[in-house]
Amino acid sequence: MAAAFAYISNAQGGGDAAGWRQRLGAALGEAIDLRAWPDIGDPADIAIALAWKPPPGVLARLPNLRLIVSTGMGVDHLLVDPELPAGVPIVRIIDPGLVGQMAEYAIYWLLHHHRDMDAYAAQQRSRQWHEVPFTDTALRRVGVLGLGEIGANTARKIAALGFPTAGWSRSPRRIDGIDCHHGRDGLEDVLRRSDVLVDVLPMTAQTAGLLDARAFARMPRGAFFVNMARGGHVVDRDLLAALDAGHLAGAALDVFHVEPLPQDHPFWSHPKVKVTPHIAGPTNPRTAAESVAENVRRLRTGRPLLNLIDPAAGY
Ligand code: GLV
Repeated sequence: MAAAFAYISNAQGGGDAAGWRQRLGAALGEAIDLRAWPDIGDPADIAIALAWKPPPGVLARLPNLRLIVSTGMGVDHLLVDPELPAGVPIVRIIDPGLVGQMAEYAIYWLLHHHRDMDAYAAQQRSRQWHEVPFTDTALRRVGVLGLGEIGANTARKIAALGFPTAGWSRSPRRIDGIDCHHGRDGLEDVLRRSDVLVDVLPMTAQTAGLLDARAFARMPRGAFFVNMARGGHVVDRDLLAALDAGHLAGAALDVFHVEPLPQDHPFWSHPKVKVTPHIAGPTNPRTAAESVAENVRRLRTGRPLLNLIDPAAGY
């Protein structure tokens, strides 16, 4: 019976085969046969695939595949594969390390904007000693789009710093200390009150292009936008127009429609845009392995899997 694991990725961010072999083996308490694609030997040996942005069609060529594990918390990278094998369950990792790093990314840019760090950097270049009028933390309203594991953790940490924090999700959520909204009207409310907007939504048919000219126009003048979710949520030309018109003060973007961000994309050189190469939440096999190991144990003993994906919903 097929029992080997394969790590299938040709992109950065989902961990690495050696790390997975060591950490997953340790979590399972056994030496595991984990092979790094493309050197997977006989495809019929592979029972469990750990995948991050796998090349389309590769999973379909594993005849004895019993489980697909997304080594990212998002799963859109799998669902775009037109040959994704039907009937093989897909689970995603829940990585507390990744969740914490995502919150750090949001908080870093929130504080950078909130404490006028670009203005002070410019002043230092011309040896100026001036206090920029400060904004009271209690008046800087933050909105977090998406209240799953990552969004809820990020929102809680931001609220703990004293920022009035709201969140938006598709279905109703309750989180202590967070002003939670949902549905279409709820989105308008959150946009309208977000001096800093943090996007952590999954990529689905409903979230594609959600942040367009209308959405940016709803946000208060001078607002700052952090996208650490998916580039496909944003209509790039509408974001650029909102920045150029002075409506938005700036944007920190970690994710893009096309990655790596094409060399000629205007985001690279825009003075109000910060670009990072999809590093907000790198998967860490050390902190993610237990989530995979638990599903491997469940698969082996025929118990229900955790963190199962519904391909129709897209998350
Ligand atoms: C990163 O983008 C992830 O989905 O984990």
